[in-house]
Amino acid sequence: MPDHELLIVLDFGGQYNQLIARRVRDEGVYCEVLPYTTPLEKLMERSPKGFILTGGPNSVNAPTAPRCPAELFSLGVPVLGICYGAQLIAATLGGRVLSDEKSEYGAVEMTLIEPGARDGRLFTGVDAVSTCWMSHNDRVAELPEGFCATARTARCANAAFEDRARGLYAVQFHPEVLHTVFGRQILKNFVYAVCGFSGDWRMSGFVRDSIARLREKIGDKKALCALSGGVDSTVAAVLLHRAIGKRLTCIFVDNGLLRKGEADSVEAMCKGQFEMNFVRVDAADRFLSRLAGVTEPERKRKIIGEEFIRVVEEAAKRIGQVDFLVQGTIYPDVIESGLGDSAVIKSHHNVGGLPKDVGFSEIIEPLRLLFKDEVRRAGLELGIPEEIVWRQPFPGPGLSVRVLGDVTEEKLATLREADAIFREEIANAGIARDISQYFAVLTNLKTVGVKGDERSYESVVALRAVKTDDFMTADFSRVPYEVLAKASSRIVNEVPRVNRVVYDITAKPPATIEWE
Ligand code: XMP
Repeated sequence: MPDHELLIVLDFGGQYNQLIARRVRDEGVYCEVLPYTTPLEKLMERSPKGFILTGGPNSVNAPTAPRCPAELFSLGVPVLGICYGAQLIAATLGGRVLSDEKSEYGAVEMTLIEPGARDGRLFTGVDAVSTCWMSHNDRVAELPEGFCATARTARCANAAFEDRARGLYAVQFHPEVLHTVFGRQILKNFVYAVCGFSGDWRMSGFVRDSIARLREKIGDKKALCALSGGVDSTVAAVLLHRAIGKRLTCIFVDNGLLRKGEADSVEAMCKGQFEMNFVRVDAADRFLSRLAGVTEPERKRKIIGEEFIRVVEEAAKRIGQVDFLVQGTIYPDVIESGLGDSAVIKSHHNVGGLPKDVGFSEIIEPLRLLFKDEVRRAGLELGIPEEIVWRQPFPGPGLSVRVLGDVTEEKLATLREADAIFREEIANAGIARDISQYFAVLTNLKTVGVKGDERSYESVVALRAVKTDDFMTADFSRVPYEVLAKASSRIVNEVPRVNRVVYDITAKPPATIEWE
């Protein structure tokens, strides 16, 4: 992203690191998260206007503690150290960090230290006493020369400190976490008042620049995109389409495991609204016959993943030579933790993607630097309808992991109807955006009920709705009883072969979001 001013978030492995980057971008400042091991020359090649050093799980006193070169602090580029980053600044420049197990965790009252805090720029607009979010064991006991303390808490005398002359700032607390009441203000002060960013990072600019760059890169060659109908691949496809028009072919595989109306709405958007070169492959029979009798969830995933690749390869052959394969990879999949572990993605979550060696010359990932909310903003910028931009995540193996046990056409039809009713009632209640993911599951359980005057012995449908930021942990959504009641009553009345509806009230962990 060479056309933009850049802030570098140097990643030391903390749990909130992506959040720091998102907050900075929310201020209109472009930033990238890079591992702390990135050589200094590489960092400086990018001409950053500021650095943020993140938190991390280590103690700076440990012999193997991750560090950054001391030169980073004398480049004249402002640095903000957060938590571990603050301790690292102190330890590197001659201060003292103690590991005395005086840990401090959670929302804590913080008091600014006058006059230091008022003389500097980091705490402009911050109340003298406010709540901050702490999560640390070690503490900075002695400041390096040239620093003054600017905030304290009951257990931490140096909750914030700075050396304005050198442009070095440190906060023991986490300004990126919403519990830090003035956190946003502090980050804003750092990027604008301290670093002097102009705040010119806008989605419209990103979209415009990406289109120009893609056009130049692809020239008059051809690209292929395997469209799933999900937000990421749709935005990637529309972006590419803007760049190279009909030289992009989108292959959409209808595997027979999609939600009600989904395949048709994807087709309508791509062909109707965007006039894309769109190939729909109706492969439901192939998928269902391979799934026949299969009950084990991981086996289902594997079969669907393999079949998907086969179908796309066959369709691609019919199209002829393509030079680029477009993928909807987004930034959270790309960021590697500062500690060298790759991002935590369950292997099965890659189902629905293509392997990187299917014979295309190059992979293009136009969204690889965007967070999910930015992908949605890019989507809106490109004119993609809101209902698609705000679509909830849908697993690659589709409804096959929501029909528990073996998958048949009849069960899929039952689930599709129940799911559509639940989605409709959530939409009618106007609460869709408050829930991260919601769907129906067809259990393989039958229970006794009474319909009219007759005994019935039919299926149980479970409803699941969760709220989550990262899909790694989640809580069940408190969907109002009236909405559940309406959905339940409609499902048992309108969907054949269902006589009971239950609501899943488990958090993740220990449950997962999907039932299989
Ligand atoms: P779990 O069930 O692991 O799901 O709590 C977390 C998120 O991942 C989605 N998910 C999948 N996505 N292929 C995918 O592309 C899969 O096999 C898969 N399994 C789960 C799930 O819908 C939720 O958003």
